[in-house]
Amino acid sequence: MNTLHDISWSDYSALPLEEKVPLLARPDGMPFHTLFAQQFGRKQLDGLCALTTKIRFIAKTREGMDFLQSQLSHKRAMIYFTQPSSRTFLSFMSACQILGLRTGEVRDASVSSEFKGESREDSIRTFSSYFDLIIMRTQEKGLAEHMAWALSRSDRPVPIINAGSGKDQHPTQALLDIYTLHRSFEKKGGLRNRTVMYVGDLARGRTVRSLSNLLTNYEGIRHIFVAPEPLQIGQDILDMLKAHGNEYVVTDDMRKYLPKADAVYMTRIQDEWDAAKGDSAKIDTSRFKIGRAEMDMMGPDAILMHPLPRRDEISTDCDSDPRSKYWRQMRNGMWIRTALIASTFDCADMIMAWRQRTM
Ligand code: NCD
Repeated sequence: MNTLHDISWSDYSALPLEEKVPLLARPDGMPFHTLFAQQFGRKQLDGLCALTTKIRFIAKTREGMDFLQSQLSHKRAMIYFTQPSSRTFLSFMSACQILGLRTGEVRDASVSSEFKGESREDSIRTFSSYFDLIIMRTQEKGLAEHMAWALSRSDRPVPIINAGSGKDQHPTQALLDIYTLHRSFEKKGGLRNRTVMYVGDLARGRTVRSLSNLLTNYEGIRHIFVAPEPLQIGQDILDMLKAHGNEYVVTDDMRKYLPKADAVYMTRIQDEWDAAKGDSAKIDTSRFKIGRAEMDMMGPDAILMHPLPRRDEISTDCDSDPRSKYWRQMRNGMWIRTALIASTFDCADMIMAWRQRTM
């Protein structure tokens, strides 16, 4: 299925990202292991969005749900999350259930044999003995990638999906964000020539890093990064946007740019990464929040997004505004993760070909 087993870790890890992508891909170009956002080009994104919309439609009837649940009823998935999660965990669990996959879970390394000193590699290899898919969220950057490489050299190279790795990548969150943008602008000229504003903790929020990467697949996207100076976006992301010819602004003035944004992507302060407890609390974040007054400054067709969980960066009285998409965004996560798992196991064509039986 993949050619990763022929390459040593040191040779593999020295490769530039674009040379890693084909090593991680299935023959149809979709990822076998889903590790980073850059594995998705426009073709894969369009295909996944179409498949997601089809799955949403099929799932509306019992006949459709029975069909979906028969797709992967012969497979099992391990959901291995050693970092806190509600939405990502539950949406992956639901996605597995929609396709009929049975699931096992580890949410705390202290209850697995890692606690007895077992290496991560041995743990993952253990999971691969019992399961056909591993979905993992970890504190460590690059761990999912290392595990994908290690498994590819074993006799059970099951696919790995990265559900969040350190401060670095959250590719499936970026997919659901893209699908939310796609749905929101589908009937309004599409997702091109749009201005996307990201607000909050851009230094440590992995969702913004993955999303800005995926958005380079769409024409004419402008990016506005709004954060207090210590929490601003990394230079690597700006360099990446520049290389793609994307325009961007880096600022701490949210109000100035709010009327120009087609999508406002709010994020919370990720204080769990503070070097010393309380470091983030010393930063003035009061100007990086959205309430009714700020929503009034946004355009009539602009949308408000958030990967959630939120704290006080979006006030709850914005929730009923039709431009607020964060609850829908969350549900989109379940649907596009269903589409991703279906594609990983080669069920996309079967699902796309489904027709409702006429009575
Ligand atoms: C995010 C994450 O874990 O990176 N949440 C999510 O997956 N929906 C963002 C966060 O924790 O703030």
